[in-house]
Amino acid sequence: MQTGVISGLDVGTSRVTCVTAELSEEGALIVTGVGQASTGGGLREGSVIDVKGVAGAVQAAIEEAEGVSSWSIDDVFVNVSGPHVRGIAGTGSVRIDRNEDYECREIDEEDIDRAEEAARAVSFPATSRVLDVVVREYGVDSFDRLQKPPIGLRGEQLTARVYTILADKTSVLNLEAAVGMAGRSVSGVFPSCLASAKAVLSHDELEMGVVLADIGAGTTDVAVFSNGTVCHVGVVPVGGDLISNDLRSLRIPSVQAEHLKREWAVASLTMVDPSKTVTVPKIGGRGSVSISHSIISQVVTARVVEIFEAIAGEVGRSGMGVHDLPAGLVITGGAASMPGMAEAGREVTGIPVEVGSPSVPDSVTDLVSKPAFATATGLLVLGLDYVANAGRRRRRPGISDTLKRIGDVFRRMR
Ligand SMILES: Nc1ncnc2c1ncn2[C@@H]1O[C@H](COP(=O)(O)OP(=O)(O)OP(=O)(O)O)[C@@H](O)[C@H]1O
Ligand SMILES: [Mg+2]
Repeated sequence: MQTGVISGLDVGTSRVTCVTAELSEEGALIVTGVGQASTGGGLREGSVIDVKGVAGAVQAAIEEAEGVSSWSIDDVFVNVSGPHVRGIAGTGSVRIDRNEDYECREIDEEDIDRAEEAARAVSFPATSRVLDVVVREYGVDSFDRLQKPPIGLRGEQLTARVYTILADKTSVLNLEAAVGMAGRSVSGVFPSCLASAKAVLSHDELEMGVVLADIGAGTTDVAVFSNGTVCHVGVVPVGGDLISNDLRSLRIPSVQAEHLKREWAVASLTMVDPSKTVTVPKIGGRGSVSISHSIISQVVTARVVEIFEAIAGEVGRSGMGVHDLPAGLVITGGAASMPGMAEAGREVTGIPVEVGSPSVPDSVTDLVSKPAFATATGLLVLGLDYVANAGRRRRRPGISDTLKRIGDVFRRMR
């Protein structure tokens, strides 16, 4: 593989994160630069509401990453989030003709293409953009759940099952406009949940069945996987910012609420230390107030329970029961860093819960192995897969328009 650079840009509700990586001769990713900038309220529930403000944050984050890495970043793989991101399942079947001896012929690549195309032919609103079409499985006559294309197998009927992920066209255009205004182009757009999943889930977890929840500032992005592929995506407009807002009800300034949450809060009441209190300035600078650890924790845990209930609700919408997902729930995103989140998740959902951190083998900084970097680092891996599979997709109709947006991700050094 050619050496070059690939960049992921996580446009999140609280901040924009740019991670850029070099590709080694062997095709491995080496993170060479990271940059971050606050979005300053330019997104609501995952969608851009202030293009100019977000463009400023995009530019600042990219320039910081460029400064560290010494590579120029001209195009980026970017994430999209918000309750408008959703998926539709589709099934398509085609007949395989028999020869003159009435024998079924071997299934070939063209048959696979025909079945996949039939499965993709689900109707969706013209206001949606297709982000991804994931082939989940194939079936040949009575044999179901075949994970690989059954090329060479004989049979009468071939079925393909796909999962098409859609996003609101306008939201994607606003996101692309912000990146464009920052002087960069978008190589590809992926749903946040798939990027985070790529960064933190193992092959075994995907095969066993697992739920991924990226709990950010304004959204919780959920993806359910079974038999190695995604079967449901959903975005719930709840996240860590709601916890900070709740703490402000203790009549403290927002900066203090954010500080209390990050430095003091625990997500599970079993971790409360009844002997601890903290003194913080009151809102308006009128004196200070002493707040017990148990009061902080009661406020926080109520919201944490709501977040996990929302995640469980998404699992329910997938049509899967929790027992169909033996690998349990993996949480990531900034809010997953709060102590006790996994315990709280287990109490609410009744399934095993782990905090997932991105596995980045080689990086200039340890920062990227924090849960808050899951989306940005996952975008790198998805982007790399996207480029590597470009030739294969080109032959498949329906995805060619997405392919057109692939920029030249291999950039020369400045
Ligand atoms: N140690 C911590 N304890 C509690 N909360 C934390 C901690 N670190 C970060 N957070 C919270 O995580 C959230 C930010 O997470 P993240 O960076 O994943 O969000 P984002 O990607 O900007 O937003 P979103 O994904 O919702 O669009 C904020 O609400 C922040 O307060
Ligand atoms: Mg995020």
